[in-house]
Amino acid sequence: MRYCTEIKLPSLSDEQIKSAISCIGNNGANTDEEVRMVSFYEWYKLNDELQFWLHENIYAGDCWGIQEVRENLLPHKDRNTGTRILYIIDDGGDEVRTHFHDDDKNIILTVKMEVGKWYLMKTDVMHSVTGVESIRRALTVRIFSR
Ligand SMILES: [Fe+2]
Repeated sequence: MRYCTEIKLPSLSDEQIKSAISCIGNNGANTDEEVRMVSFYEWYKLNDELQFWLHENIYAGDCWGIQEVRENLLPHKDRNTGTRILYIIDDGGDEVRTHFHDDDKNIILTVKMEVGKWYLMKTDVMHSVTGVESIRRALTVRIFSR
């Protein structure tokens, strides 16, 4: 699979986005400690209503959360996730880019992920985020473990 691919799936309503944002502060036990070490990254579990909708309409294999990134993420690999689905709620600024790197940290691909779109993203290869000016938020689920 490519490093990052946009996928066509149903959009969320404004009410669903509000509901997702209201989940910020919920149990963050799933936060990837390896990522937390390199930057501010947090993960909050979504409520039952959103879990149900996302499981019915998008992907049912794992628990869904909302992630917050408040500053650039240095190159890292996610510890227990091979690939994840992301739905961007707030992009964190016009200049935000996601990069994929080889094992020497050279950038091999740069993408701009847009608000309101779904992406399939490989996270067991080195990746980073630059240009974060405001809080970047996305709904996310793991689809393959390592
Ligand atoms: Fe990551």
